[in-house]
Amino acid sequence: MYKVGVIGLGAIAAMYATPASEHPYCHVGGIRQSGKVELAAAAELSEAAREKFAGVWGEAFPALRYYDGSAAMLEKEALDIVAVCVRGPYHYRVVMEAIEAGPRAIFLEKPPSCSLEEMDGMVEAAARKGIPVVVSYSRHWNPHILRLQQLVREGLLGEVKTVVAYCGHYVLSFASHTTDLICQFAGYEPEEVYARGTAKGDAPTGYEPEPTLDHMTIRFANGVTGVQVGGNGEHGSMYAEVFGEKGMLRVGMYTPTVLFDAQGQKLDLEPLQLPAPASVFTVAYDQIADYLDGGPLPHCTDAHFVAVNEIGFGAIESMHTGRAIPLPVPHRTRKVFANE
Ligand SMILES: NC(=O)c1ccc[n+]([C@@H]2O[C@H](COP(=O)([O-])OP(=O)(O)OC[C@H]3O[C@@H](n4cnc5c(N)ncnc54)[C@H](O)[C@@H]3O)[C@@H](O)[C@H]2O)c1
Repeated sequence: MYKVGVIGLGAIAAMYATPASEHPYCHVGGIRQSGKVELAAAAELSEAAREKFAGVWGEAFPALRYYDGSAAMLEKEALDIVAVCVRGPYHYRVVMEAIEAGPRAIFLEKPPSCSLEEMDGMVEAAARKGIPVVVSYSRHWNPHILRLQQLVREGLLGEVKTVVAYCGHYVLSFASHTTDLICQFAGYEPEEVYARGTAKGDAPTGYEPEPTLDHMTIRFANGVTGVQVGGNGEHGSMYAEVFGEKGMLRVGMYTPTVLFDAQGQKLDLEPLQLPAPASVFTVAYDQIADYLDGGPLPHCTDAHFVAVNEIGFGAIESMHTGRAIPLPVPHRTRKVFANE
């Protein structure tokens, strides 16, 4: 069992589920259902948050070692995987601390950074130590989405032409889940992005406020076009419609899967053998453990999360300039308060 240490015991680390949840949507719940990783240590600055965590999860993790901050945990523990579950503006500092400590993998909550300069710093430091950084675009690991990604790669739709996805709100903090969903089906080699959005309100000194997405268009190197609608579609949010030469697939975490042939005829899903549901966090941690056993890199790692983050920052750049932005984004120092 690989040892995981979680930094930050807030909502996504622990509070979106309880030990009773069937498919927990949080790190510790996912770890608990994995047969490959175990929760060894947890760091949290706030005593009240540590107590709240212990009240909900204490009995589920009786041997857990608690620390009052990331520095103390990283100094004491020899961890295989460090999960960084603090808010975006703290990602850079905490990830650099974790890299210094030298775990075998880092699982970082989205959005990975508040600037591309921060991202470049983390990626370079992690690469120097050979530590893969996996970014938690968590819905990516929904078992049926993973299976459909594989089937589309194997030709279910023939050549993919266009991917249209629906999700608005903050472009880095929230809509990035769906930007990643587009890449799951379009590939991770974006070349250019054009976007419109709206930044409202204030941000702390040194930061710009994070804009919400109205719409974006992504041009990929393989000829696929990605379109992200900054709002719900007819079937809800956080889903994509993947158009290929042989048909169309509707796919998402909260939207029923539907497959049509090129004539618009609805097809039976039975032959696709879609898997049973599971906690997306269990699936992600299992992929990381399999990598540590000598398997392939986990999804959303290194170049893949970089592609999604380049699209997000390119979209913001496009909102400011009114022009399509080539990727990688030339301007790396724009600092956005990506705190949600
Ligand atoms: N994947 C998803 O669906 C999803 C959902 C919600 C949030 N998130 C992301 O997860 C991250 C955390 O968001 P949240 O809503 O859980 O935040 P939160 O505020 O609920 O929890 C963060 C916790 O980190 C603690 N913390 C900060 N610095 C620390 C340090 N150095 N050492 C130890 N503890 C520290 C804080 O005290 C706080 O309790 C954000 O990046 C957010 O975007 C992802």
